[in-house]
Amino acid sequence: MCGIVGYIGNQNSVPILIEGLKRLEYRGYDSAGVASINLGKSDLIKVKGKVSALEEKVKHEQLQGNIGIGHTRWATHGAPNETNAHPHFNSDKTLYLIHNGIIENYSVLKTALISKGYNFNSETDSEVLVHLIDSFIKKGNDLFNSVRYSLNEVEGAYGICVIYSDEPDKIIVAKKGSPLVIGIGDGENYIASDVNALIAYTSQIVYLEDDEIAVVYKDKFQARSISDEEIVKEVHEVKIALEEISKGGYQHYMLKEIMEQPESVRNSMRGRLLYEDGISKLGGLEGFDNRIAYSRRIVISACGTSWHAGLVGEYMLEQYAGIPVEVDYASEFRYRNPVIQPDDTMIFISQSGETADTLAAMKEAKRKGALVLGVCNVVGSSIARESTAGVYIHAGPEIGVASTKAFTSQLVVLSLITLLAARKRNLSLIDGKKIIEEIDSLPDKIARILKINDQIEHIAEKFVDAKNFLYLGRGYNFPVALEGALKLKEISYIHAEGYPAAEMKHGPIALIDENMPTVVIAPKDSVYDKVLSNIEEVKARKGKVIAIANEDDDQIDKLVDHVIKVPQTIRMLMPILTVIPLQLLAYHIAVKKGLNVDQPRNLAKSVTVE
Ligand code: AGP
Ligand code: GLU
Repeated sequence: MCGIVGYIGNQNSVPILIEGLKRLEYRGYDSAGVASINLGKSDLIKVKGKVSALEEKVKHEQLQGNIGIGHTRWATHGAPNETNAHPHFNSDKTLYLIHNGIIENYSVLKTALISKGYNFNSETDSEVLVHLIDSFIKKGNDLFNSVRYSLNEVEGAYGICVIYSDEPDKIIVAKKGSPLVIGIGDGENYIASDVNALIAYTSQIVYLEDDEIAVVYKDKFQARSISDEEIVKEVHEVKIALEEISKGGYQHYMLKEIMEQPESVRNSMRGRLLYEDGISKLGGLEGFDNRIAYSRRIVISACGTSWHAGLVGEYMLEQYAGIPVEVDYASEFRYRNPVIQPDDTMIFISQSGETADTLAAMKEAKRKGALVLGVCNVVGSSIARESTAGVYIHAGPEIGVASTKAFTSQLVVLSLITLLAARKRNLSLIDGKKIIEEIDSLPDKIARILKINDQIEHIAEKFVDAKNFLYLGRGYNFPVALEGALKLKEISYIHAEGYPAAEMKHGPIALIDENMPTVVIAPKDSVYDKVLSNIEEVKARKGKVIAIANEDDDQIDKLVDHVIKVPQTIRMLMPILTVIPLQLLAYHIAVKKGLNVDQPRNLAKSVTVE
């Protein structure tokens, strides 16, 4: 969600903060600000809108200082405007704070502070923290303890950075529920809510955990628990090349990430296919293989696109491993009283590894005694760290807000988990080998689909003015229909709904007329004929149909308005191919509408608030 960056050292912090904020822009935000301390004097600049506007203003007003904090805000409390943008400050303008998350008891704290004479500038929940810290400082405490005492009174989630011009040698950082890392430099240190902001400066990263608070100096840092015990932190070497988070010549990150899929899917399976034994090898699950294969039940929980991947996982695991599977929205799971038993396995899927709902659901599952597995992309993320065992999807950094390559890599990893469990149960060696062959052939098949990008762009042109879209699919391709519809609505703002094809006649068919395009995913599988009947039903009502079909299917061309052809594979893997034209279709429609596909309105890359 919002972005946090901090710097302390001998350089001017401001350009470093701006650069860091630019690297976090992909996460989604509505306003931005920086504050710095220069020779004991502090100053701040905020803007509504983009980091580029902040950069201009900072240059114009010549803000500088060796210690500084920067923020991009994604409004939760109060309108997105300059006043509500962070940093927030005390009335003396000596203390500055940036915050990611939500202070749930802000209203009670605010009333108490107002009764003590504190004035509030903004409508945010975050501002209470700065006045609360100020109230402890005014009682004679130092900055560290004032922050600590304040956080003890706070309910909710936070990642914070605080600077104080009376103690200009340090930044105080703390975390609960929102990500925060410290980057170690040479005589200088960095802070960020996301490693991507720091990789241009350092690869030495310290991950702060919940209820930890750290004092960061230019040449050292000290971490303590919120109850003031000393904590020894490990420094991790993070290997992300700068090119991995650049656009690499493409107009948008989303297009680059769609085009990268032959490679990203290859990376998800690399070293994990044991051809001779017809089984997969997943290092992160070692020691748990049998436990997973003989689970009484598997429950998959996630949000958004990752939840769609989970739905495909359900079909895979039930078909091949014969294990009952349930798929639950993480946000629903955490607020029910889910029945979880010790011989259940739970799989949490998350690209970012920071989604608040998924993380909270994971903690609840752990409390209930399930084996808790994580399927994550971001190495070292909170969900990866919190899981008992897990598998990285290795898709590489995904910057576009609309998830694309993470989805296909999540499906590859789910197929590998399925293969592992199925071979331990009753899948034969021959069938295991056949699945491996098919998994191994995916990158080439994806590359074949990407070659018809121009054709898909041409089809997109015809639907730029559509107001609604219907996506239909059956079996393994029903979740793909949901994912195709989500992609379109996220970036083109066209209303779109995904449905199991046969459900259409139970309601959505009422919507069909010549203005309602329907995308039908119709590969040649056991339900192909039934899907053709669904297409006939749409055509009979003058609906326009775009079909995703197999390369050897000549029959469908006559029936529909547009066909996009994809190679054949086994049913379980078909979604990895059928989703790609849908990603491209959504992309081209949004670009033709002149929209910002990488940072669609109101959306954030990782949703770190409830
Ligand atoms: C995908 O295009 C979305 N932006 C969103 O639904 C996303 O998949 C969801 O927020 C879950 O994110 P995660 O995988 O990082 O947990
Ligand atoms: N809740 C805070 C606000 O609305 C912080 C939001 C964020 O994480 O950006 O200002």
